[in-house]
Amino acid sequence: MYFLGIDVGTSGSRAVIVDGSGSVSGTAAEGHEPFRSPRGGWAEQDPDDWWRASSLAIQRAIKDAGVDPDAIGSVSFSGQMHGAVLLGGDGRPLAPSIIWCDNRAVEECRELTENVGAKRLIQLVSNPALPNFTLPKLLWARKHWPEVWEGVRTVTLPKDYVRTRLSGDRSLDLADGSGTLMLDVVQRSWSQEILEDAEIERSLLPDLVESPEITGEVSRSASRETGLRQGTPVVAGAGDNAAAAIGMGIVRPGDVSVTVGTSGVVFAATEAPKTDPLGRIHTLCHAIPKTWQVTGVTQAAGLSFQWFRDTLASGRSYGDLTAEASMIPPGAEGLLWAPYLMGERTPHIDPNARASLIGLSTRHTRGHIVRAILEGVAFSLRDCIEIFREVGIPIERIRLGGGGARSALWRQIQADIYGHQVEIVEADEGAAFGAAILAGVGAGHWSSVPEACERSIRVAEQIDPDKENSSLLGERYEQFRKIYGALKEVK
Ligand code: XUL
Repeated sequence: MYFLGIDVGTSGSRAVIVDGSGSVSGTAAEGHEPFRSPRGGWAEQDPDDWWRASSLAIQRAIKDAGVDPDAIGSVSFSGQMHGAVLLGGDGRPLAPSIIWCDNRAVEECRELTENVGAKRLIQLVSNPALPNFTLPKLLWARKHWPEVWEGVRTVTLPKDYVRTRLSGDRSLDLADGSGTLMLDVVQRSWSQEILEDAEIERSLLPDLVESPEITGEVSRSASRETGLRQGTPVVAGAGDNAAAAIGMGIVRPGDVSVTVGTSGVVFAATEAPKTDPLGRIHTLCHAIPKTWQVTGVTQAAGLSFQWFRDTLASGRSYGDLTAEASMIPPGAEGLLWAPYLMGERTPHIDPNARASLIGLSTRHTRGHIVRAILEGVAFSLRDCIEIFREVGIPIERIRLGGGGARSALWRQIQADIYGHQVEIVEADEGAAFGAAILAGVGAGHWSSVPEACERSIRVAEQIDPDKENSSLLGERYEQFRKIYGALKEVK
């Protein structure tokens, strides 16, 4: 028996097929149209492009694995979180989706915080109002797109739009639902109070399920478009960070992952909901029933490197650029990068923060800048780790995922900057792999998510921090921490 996981990411969709022992049998990816930024800080994508890319990736993964679609026991999802997908009565999108890194809803966050109260918001939904979350985006759409809002009958999240195209059902898992700012994360249900305060009708929202639950089955038309067998069970899945964490075996207190995709996420599994009174980290449901997670988010992690390459080093591969950076000593000879290209969440909660490159001299080369970017992203992720320590979240092991785990240089930089051993797991397939595990649990092949992880996740490599470099980078981290405060007043 095989299980298929689909990750509807930001830059593309990826499908992974695993066998009953959790080994990867086939994979495929298809890019999305890059997000559009019609104004600074805005980010929009077209939901139908996600479906196009996902169905192609599914077809190709089936081919790559060389499996008979009848042997695929179930399908599940992972996806970019928080995006508002506005659907009409016919289930079609009425507008582009305002995605996770869009910061337009600053005013709506201010109003929400004023009306509900900052403390009460954390009590009701465990998180502060950030423009990244779905509810402020809905309030923005209601105010600025009244004709669109009028026709909205369902609000859903990105991967769940792909789910409706695949199976017609309108469910949502609690892990992704917790990033909407409308979920009572402690009770694992929609928060009636916040919906009343924000005047959002409950009927617009999908029904909630735990991540390993079956929500529907592949429809006849979707079977034609994807090559999956009609009737294949569809399992809920999770937001990408929870799914990536499952794919790395982050299931118990003490387990922490650091994933560098477009954003960078430090994730810890917790037995109970653990909130930061200052709201600097997110408290969400985990993809394992009755457990929770905390995450710290660097908005532009992989995006910092991508932006640099596309804007200032076009034509160069990431491999070429990291090779140049690896010739430069740790600390990049005084150069520091603060990665706030799309504002920042952890620890600054400031959508208007902006990136900076500090300390340039004629001595510095492109390799220095790349090294400073890789280090700056890791410094920012260490900010998240420091908050975990401050609020008493145990950190016993750190596993790396995403692009930041694929480069040997970035792996070592991370071990040195976190001052902690880091591990890489064998199946480097990230969130789509986690989704495939959830599909297998949903189909009853594994009895629970921790059991599935126990059986299918193997550590490939452990990297220890280099003592000398770690202490030098520790000093640079103290300088990095001063940048945000020092530049805040410079507009
Ligand atoms: C998490 C977040 C991002 C997106 C990216 O809070 O906004 O990690 O899920 O895919």
